[in-house]
Amino acid sequence: MVANELPSDPLQLFAERPWRQVSPEAQAPARHVPTMLSTEESQFYYWLARDWARGTGHTVDLGAFIGGSTARFATGQQAAGRTTPIIAYDRFTADPQVKRSLLYPAGIPAFSGNDILLLAHRLLTPFKPMVELRPGEFLEQGWSGEPIEILCVDIAKTAETADHVAAEFFPHLIPGRSIVVQQDFLHEIQPWLPAQMTLLRRHFTPLARIAHHCVAFLCTSVPTSASLDRARVAPLSDAQLTRLVRRAALSYRGLAGRYRFASMVRRISENPETREAWRMRRHRDTP
Ligand SMILES: C[S@@+](CC[C@H](N)C(=O)[O-])C[C@H]1O[C@@H](n2cnc3c(N)ncnc32)[C@H](O)[C@@H]1O
Repeated sequence: MVANELPSDPLQLFAERPWRQVSPEAQAPARHVPTMLSTEESQFYYWLARDWARGTGHTVDLGAFIGGSTARFATGQQAAGRTTPIIAYDRFTADPQVKRSLLYPAGIPAFSGNDILLLAHRLLTPFKPMVELRPGEFLEQGWSGEPIEILCVDIAKTAETADHVAAEFFPHLIPGRSIVVQQDFLHEIQPWLPAQMTLLRRHFTPLARIAHHCVAFLCTSVPTSASLDRARVAPLSDAQLTRLVRRAALSYRGLAGRYRFASMVRRISENPETREAWRMRRHRDTP
């Protein structure tokens, strides 16, 4: 494919799942950076940066943790010989449980406190100056206005955050080119994500489901600020949210069985007015 040329049929391209051909050797430059991503998600992020991106906009990694996803994007981009900026947002903190279960088994020496910003900088040194970290509370941050070619959303753990992602970042997507990766789209504890994308479905075409929860969308037109305002999910009542999840079950039936959306509906009814993923408990989990 010639640089900047669009694939004639992105649906066909994604249906072939070419990222599954990405070898562990290709991703070796990112291997030292721990990640919460699954094997296929890592392959997908690398492939998006190497084979889909053309450098027509930034890559934005919302919810980078210690930089694992960022490193996979950067490695893919390096393989393509591009140096387009990759901007990573996170609080850059790790609680004791995450340190024990993810960081130490990945070879990070034990450390005190929960700040991982310096560690992330150190681990991402091979990708500087292409990679820029924006630490802090996401709700207090915005976007500088440059076009975005890949927008990876792994930060929308609350409905309010999902609205912030849409308001700040969606206006800067490139129609027919930008991919939005909704990392937790099919996760039963974040029903506001299918609700949001259902409200915006005129602007985004689902291209593929990757592993369990991740879904990639092509932006086909940029939502106006009025349509983004109408698509806000934080103000929805439980009944409205439930209705939208049921509509999502129909709109996205090619991606997942109805049982997945049904379990989102169950979580909503078990957790009235709850819009934080970590509080969307199963009824039998509650004391
Ligand atoms: C599932 S993790 C991301 C995993 C990462 N992409 C990887 O490759 O390992 C989600 C991240 O979102 C961040 N996050 C969630 N809400 C946030 C907020 N309001 N402000 C800043 N960071 C936030 C968390 O700190 C966490 O690191």
